[in-house]
Order: sequence, then C-alpha cells, then structure tokens
Amino acid sequence: MSALLEVRDIHTAYGQSRVLFGISLEVAPQECVCLLGRNGVGKTTTMRSIMGLTPPSSGRVTWKGKEITGWAPHRVARAGIGFVPEDRRIFAELTTWENLDVARQVAGRPGGWDIPAVYRLFPKLEELRDRPGGFLSGGEQQMLTIARTLLGNPELLLLDEPSEGLAPLVVEQLLERVLELKQKGLTILLAEQGVEFSLAVADRVYVLEKGEVRYSGSAASLRDDAALRHQLLAL
Ligand SMILES: Nc1ncnc2c1ncn2[C@@H]1O[C@H](COP(=O)(O)OP(=O)(O)O)[C@@H](O)[C@H]1O
Ligand SMILES: [Mg+2]
Repeated sequence: MSALLEVRDIHTAYGQSRVLFGISLEVAPQECVCLLGRNGVGKTTTMRSIMGLTPPSSGRVTWKGKEITGWAPHRVARAGIGFVPEDRRIFAELTTWENLDVARQVAGRPGGWDIPAVYRLFPKLEELRDRPGGFLSGGEQQMLTIARTLLGNPELLLLDEPSEGLAPLVVEQLLERVLELKQKGLTILLAEQGVEFSLAVADRVYVLEKGEVRYSGSAASLRDDAALRHQLLAL
C-alpha cells in the first residue's frame, strides 16, 4: 500500500500529561479509515498531532512521502489536509453564507469546491444561507463545519466525531453525505465512538485505547465478528 498519510510511532503530550504512546497508522488514497474508541482514548489528539495543532514530541507524520511533523497548522492545511473539529467553531453572529465566505477567503488551495458546490452537497445550507450560525441546529452546524473545510479543497478530510450529539435521523443524513464525499474520491480519516457510523462508512479501522492502537483491521472483519467487537469495544 502506498500511503497518502503515514503516522509513525507518535507520542504526544499536553504539558506534563502524556496522551499518545506510539500511535502508528496509514491512510491510502481514497480510503476511509476510522479511529474508533471511547471518550478520552486519544482520537482528537491524534488528529491534532497530524494537523500540527499539538505537535508530537517524537515520531513522524508523513504526507505524500514528505515529512510534515511539527509544521504549522495553516501549512498542513495548505498541503491538502482539512480538519473538521469536533467542537465545530461556527461564528454564531455570522450567517451561514458569511461563515462560508470567511472560509472561502482563507482557503489556500485551488480546487473544485466553491460555495455553489457545497450548496449542492448540502442543499439545506442554501435554504439557511441568511440564518446566523448560532441559530442553526447541531446537524446544520455540522454540515456547515464540513462545508467550510471543503472550501479549502483538501485531499484528506479529518472528521472528528461528526455524529456526536446528533439525533439518529440526522446522523443518517450525515452518513449519506460522507458516503457521497467518499464516492467523489475524497480520502477520509474519521474519529468515532460509535461503531455503527464508523462501520457503515469505513474501509479500515484502528481501535484506540489509552493512547495506543489496540487493534487494526478491515471494517468488514469487525462488522462480521460480534465477539471481536465486544472484546474490543464492549458493545
Ligand atoms: N488540552 C488538553 N490538556 C490536557 N489534557 C487533555 C487536553 N485535551 C485532551 N486531554 C486529555 O487527553 C486524553 C485524550 O483526549 P482526546 O484526544 O480528546 O480523546 P478522544 O478524542 O478520544 O476523546 C484525555 O485523557 C484528555 O483528558
Ligand atoms: Mg475527541
């Protein structure tokens, strides 16, 4: 497998508090890979380490064969990695359109994503174009956060717990959009606590526990093996 993203043995800490203990993973072009695990196992920290938001103290992050460990976040984004943070960070006073316009202005990469294209993916956002971000539902904010990141024309999308806090029907709609992005050829690294969303979309899975990779394998093997799932995730 020729990896697009390769993470090799990274250790990451917040001050004195060590969180990742040698995470290694790979994402091949057009793959959808899921980091699966409970709250606090290090999924977000792994993504922050890749983005350069919390650089690892040791280990390597390689993007298209080039080492990017410790690069500033804007430089990582410009290289083609887009991050959709779990806390969404919508500008509450700006309208949907203004939120998108800000993202469009800072987008540092050329590509096919513009505001009409994200409206085609999420028609709801066009209906809500004049509504302030603070008045959007959780699901609408999640769509807006993904749309904003797409305007940066990423080749790899880091999606941090997109389904968190959303009603089941909204999660289902979101899942369809993520599958559509995958069909368009976008490479995705997804973090999830829930096994259903991740197994519905992922090709491969890394199960994290206490800052380490506890298991890695195809999503199909985890889908078909209830005993393994139970052992790994107590589901
Ligand atoms: N900014 C921070 N400062 C100190 N500890 C943190 C910070 N963010 C996360 N942690 C700790 O790091 C561990 C992993 O967190 P995180 O990567 O957010 O896990 P996950 O995304 O899997 O829920 C947790 O124990 C969490 O409390
Ligand atoms: Mg997290």
